Amino acid sequence: MQRFSNKVVFISGAASGIGRETAVRLASEGASLLLCDIDEKGLGTTQKACEEQGAKTTIYRCDVSNYDECVNAIDACITHYGQLDVLCNIAGIAQMQHFTDISPADWHKILGVNLSSVFYLCQLAMPHLIKTKGNIVNMASSAGLVGQAYTSSYCATKAAVVNLSKSLAIEYSAQSVRVNALCPGNVKTPLASKLNIPEDIDKRLLGRMFPLIEAAQPCEIAAAVAYLSSDEARFITGAALPIDGAQTAG
Ligand SMILES: NC(=O)c1ccc[n+]([C@@H]2O[C@H](COP(=O)([O-])OP(=O)(O)OC[C@H]3O[C@@H](n4cnc5c(N)ncnc54)[C@H](O)[C@@H]3O)[C@@H](O)[C@H]2O)c1
Repeated sequence: MQRFSNKVVFISGAASGIGRETAVRLASEGASLLLCDIDEKGLGTTQKACEEQGAKTTIYRCDVSNYDECVNAIDACITHYGQLDVLCNIAGIAQMQHFTDISPADWHKILGVNLSSVFYLCQLAMPHLIKTKGNIVNMASSAGLVGQAYTSSYCATKAAVVNLSKSLAIEYSAQSVRVNALCPGNVKTPLASKLNIPEDIDKRLLGRMFPLIEAAQPCEIAAAVAYLSSDEARFITGAALPIDGAQTAG
């Protein structure tokens, strides 16, 4: 399949996990890529993997919680490729803490990386996406669809990403720009494996946070990003698609 021939895709969080797998998947389907992240070494590894698929790939160091850096990253994409067809907002961080232990600094950090970045990049990309009748895929989470203990700040950011995506889907539908959110449950990435779980949590409150089906591989989430951002999903906009082993089904 070459669903992304002549398409330019911007991916945040491309140095690791779901972002890296998405980059490689879209590279294998013909996309030209602008990959951004704060982790330059990881970006280099992703770039090499994408170039092995024959894709034109540009990397750009960018802290997506910083508005000016987002301006520069989108500018770099347009300067380099002259167009933008797909924006994938994948960069993110997670915190697992008791609610009363979340400091104002923790709160502002997670808001900046998980939510403000999505606002900034969607807004900056929109004029370019209107020109190409492009689309946006925002990486939310099952934690954006239901509440979870000990991850209240993360849940708040991801729920906001879901509703921001739906709002933009409606507002830009007349201009044929699609906007969707993906809501994965547990995925085997560094974000999940490095999560510091406080020792004194009440495990009964974790409920169905860890479903029976084995956690997803990042390539399985990348496959869904590829479908949603392709023309095959022309009639899908304003969706918040769970990929979570039934975690949020009932
Ligand atoms: N892994 C899971 O279980 C899971 C589940 C649901 C949703 N998600 C979401 O998927 C997305 C990708 O996470 P992942 O699991 O691949 O984690 P990951 O840690 O492997 O990748 C996250 C990437 O975001 C980058 N990043 C962090 N802060 C940044 C910043 N300020 N500016 C630019 N880049 C920054 C990191 O350097 C890293 O490359 C996140 O939004 C996460 O919330 C993950």
